[in-house]
Amino acid sequence: MGHHGRMHAQSEADPSDRPEQRHLPTTSFRSRRSALSDAQRETWERLWPELGYSEIPRDAQPLDIRAWFGREAPVVLEIGCGSGLSTLAMARDEPDVDVIAVDVYRRGLAQLLSALDKATAQVRNIRLIRGNAVDVLQHLIAPESLSGVRVFFPDPWPKARHHKRRFLQPATIALIADRLLAGGVLHAATDHPGYAEQIARAGDAEPRLCRVDPGTPLPISVARPTTKYETKAQRTGSAVTELIWTRRRG
Ligand SMILES: C[S@@+](CC[C@H](N)C(=O)[O-])C[C@H]1O[C@@H](n2cnc3c(N)ncnc32)[C@H](O)[C@@H]1O
Repeated sequence: MGHHGRMHAQSEADPSDRPEQRHLPTTSFRSRRSALSDAQRETWERLWPELGYSEIPRDAQPLDIRAWFGREAPVVLEIGCGSGLSTLAMARDEPDVDVIAVDVYRRGLAQLLSALDKATAQVRNIRLIRGNAVDVLQHLIAPESLSGVRVFFPDPWPKARHHKRRFLQPATIALIADRLLAGGVLHAATDHPGYAEQIARAGDAEPRLCRVDPGTPLPISVARPTTKYETKAQRTGSAVTELIWTRRRG
């Protein structure tokens, strides 16, 4: 995206200066083969300049999301969108909500871009960012600007020595809470019981968040389609835990 997508004069202090945000995970992702097919590369070169954003400089200013989408609408950030199956289905079901899909995995983003290319006539409410979601939240998203944050099946890092790599932990949840509008929704789902407990504890301990039941009326949909991770989890008998909070008002 061009300079029109940047916003200037943000007076907000860097949130990493705040005590609760000093221990953000730096590598919650694995490096994966990211080669694109010829068709994906052609689509990437054609669509990425308009729909995508990458390379986040440390001095980046928050995005002008309204200019990027060309309208004013509630904004949802989906962290770790993978190949974007949920992203596409949920954006198609909610055309009045703008969705920013973030991943470090280029081939996943390319799959989403190709799917969008085929669905362009119906789905205009998705933009993509390639980068670490911690950097995206810290540098590209203004405080109190999001109606929702979705984190579906974050990498579970099952070994104890790797738990510090898990994306959802107190520091990232505090950063997410800071970026949500009052009434905005944090929606996480995982099939890993230990990670589910850790996320539940961290979310419940965050003073700006308040847990809600899946049936509660909310400003954005929490109806998630079944992804390949979920299908795999169901086959192995793992239950999926759905965790939803809203940012408290006032
Ligand atoms: C297990 S996959 C789940 C994909 C998708 N949400 C789904 O349900 O099918 C986790 C994804 O999160 C991405 N990821 C992990 N940590 C990330 C980070 N810090 N920033 C951006 N993406 C991240 C990985 O690259 C991977 O694509």
